[in-house]
Amino acid sequence: MTTRRTPLILGALAAAFAFAGAPAWAQPAKLKVGLMLPYTGTFAALGTAIENGFRLYVAEQGGKLGGREIEWFKVDDESDPSKATDNANKLIKRDNVDVLVGSVHSGVAMAMARVARDSGTMLIVPNAGADAVTGPMCAQHIFRSSFSNWQPGYAMGEVMAKKGHKKVVTITWKYAAGDESVKGFREAFEKQGGQVVKDLSLPFPGVEFQALLTEIASLKPDAVYTFFAGGGAVKFVKDYAAAGLKASIPLYGAGFLTDGTLQAQGAAADGLLTTLHYGDSLDKPRDKDFRLAYVKAYKLQPDVYAVQGYDAAQMLGIGLAAVKGDIGKKAEFAAALEKARIDSPRGAFSLGKTHNPVQDIYLRQVVGQENKVIGVASKALADPGRGCRM
Ligand code: BEZ
Repeated sequence: MTTRRTPLILGALAAAFAFAGAPAWAQPAKLKVGLMLPYTGTFAALGTAIENGFRLYVAEQGGKLGGREIEWFKVDDESDPSKATDNANKLIKRDNVDVLVGSVHSGVAMAMARVARDSGTMLIVPNAGADAVTGPMCAQHIFRSSFSNWQPGYAMGEVMAKKGHKKVVTITWKYAAGDESVKGFREAFEKQGGQVVKDLSLPFPGVEFQALLTEIASLKPDAVYTFFAGGGAVKFVKDYAAAGLKASIPLYGAGFLTDGTLQAQGAAADGLLTTLHYGDSLDKPRDKDFRLAYVKAYKLQPDVYAVQGYDAAQMLGIGLAAVKGDIGKKAEFAAALEKARIDSPRGAFSLGKTHNPVQDIYLRQVVGQENKVIGVASKALADPGRGCRM
């Protein structure tokens, strides 16, 4: 006999079978993963590397996380913050994704965090370092597998001060990532007695560097600190060398300056020192296995973005395993991740109270086609998480 309540009961049963306790004959519903990443523009290669890393981890788990197969949804966010709210809402309202994964650009990620907070959708940020995401916008269901913009900048401030540089010029794109990277750098550098004599910037994703390079030449600082990434980083490093500055004014940066870019930068990048939570010569079995698997799958060398994508999938897997696939159990999902050691190719890391990685920041030097790790600039560095109330 069917009644008016039959569809309701069937719906409830279907929902229950999506998770634990489903009988052997019932397949849990697929987990809908919404990848919101740049596939065009200056960060296109970064988006692809993140997706590659994410898919590699899922493939290593037999295509399932928390016992659920994955159904993929993708949006090219174009690294455009003005389109980010609509793009995130498409994934949530049109595609009904269970989890958002994105993005690369800090402005886009802040819009995603806003949508995730309003809708209660799980969000894992696999790159964008916007300090606010794990600061004032932090939430029980928002996680980051990458870094905060403050972290590599702060580590480099200490390195450059220890090297004896006193007067430094900074140069970056004028948006959250650039501003916050420089702020982190300045905090550490000035604490050690250094002085930032001028902050130079240009709008994202501009690459008209000539006038700014001329200004650096006339200011004659001891050194330059920079944040650029992707296609813009390739052009900046080449222009810096072509302007004849490389020999006279040492260039340093957050490691994005030379990650995933070395083939295109060629000799212009040789010898550059950067700080980042990954490098190409980590002598760790976990990293060696990851790199072999990545090269086999994609015929490409992995970079920091691939690692962050891989770890975003690992984090999702850890949370889902703890709730037996029921991603609606947010408190249990978060509790599992808060006590996890994430076995990353970069070295195992944990999440701080704000859900940002607490991790070693390496000092790396470009040698040929490698960001060779030459030391640990900052051990187990935790973002201060200013403004986070959770
Ligand atoms: C950002 O916008 O947060 C970002 C973009 C590329 C590399 C690193 C950070």
